[in-house]
Amino acid sequence: MARIAHLSDVHFGAHDPSVVAGVEAWLVADRPDLVVISGDFTQRARVEQYREARAFLRRLEAVGLRTLCVPGNHDVPLFDVLRRFARPLNRYRRFIEEDLCPWFENERLAVLGINTARSLTIKHGRINHEQMALIRERFRAVPDDRTKILVTHHPLFAMPIGEEGGLTRVVGRHEPALQAVAEAGVHILLAGHFHRTYSAAAREMVENAGPALVIQAGTATSTRLRAGEAQSFNLIHARRNDEVDLQVIAWDGTAFTGRSQARFTFDGENWHPRPAAAELAG
Ligand SMILES: [Fe+2]
Ligand SMILES: [Fe+2]
Repeated sequence: MARIAHLSDVHFGAHDPSVVAGVEAWLVADRPDLVVISGDFTQRARVEQYREARAFLRRLEAVGLRTLCVPGNHDVPLFDVLRRFARPLNRYRRFIEEDLCPWFENERLAVLGINTARSLTIKHGRINHEQMALIRERFRAVPDDRTKILVTHHPLFAMPIGEEGGLTRVVGRHEPALQAVAEAGVHILLAGHFHRTYSAAAREMVENAGPALVIQAGTATSTRLRAGEAQSFNLIHARRNDEVDLQVIAWDGTAFTGRSQARFTFDGENWHPRPAAAELAG
């Protein structure tokens, strides 16, 4: 079994320092195999905000935690037009990670990050054909018993918006991206951006996505919260390719604690959720 902590939208510059300390305390105590951070490291891509984000990452790495990061739309400068178009992710590459499509593999997991943040589509992301080729190529050589995970900042799917219904926009080149995901046999899609936790089988949302499980993270440390949501992140137990436990770890005002959990099982066609509180407790 592999354990992945999935954080997103940490937004240094609009963060709560006590919540940041809470995340760190939880990660240091729990020691997941991998910490995924799916973008929006900063609020406005300012140097000072990047410095704080880098210090956060360095503290995790200093205690031996392995991280995998992708940029978000907030990591591209918004008001500095020259920087936005000429060197949109220069600071991200300098402070966070040079590689915009990072890869992690061990005997249980294969995880690929893809950058969806762009200068032109300021808020909404995009994926390009080279990245789609990379998705196919990277996962092709992965043994069947490893859980294949794709990480993006923007979800590849239209997500439900709150209780009132409606759907979010999808990334640019949505259709061929889904085809690449299906052909690559991706088991789990991790993303953020909407500051809302959500999980569902991809086939519940679109027809042609293949057998992927979609998992969205809320914001881990930002003060910009959706109504009714606390800061949170996901703990994913990838038991096998056909069994995944998802636990949402939420801020209760003083510490991060397990809030809800579910087990997803794959029947060869689709993922099915069922509450598994009693089983997971052990
Ligand atoms: Fe965000
Ligand atoms: Fe975002």
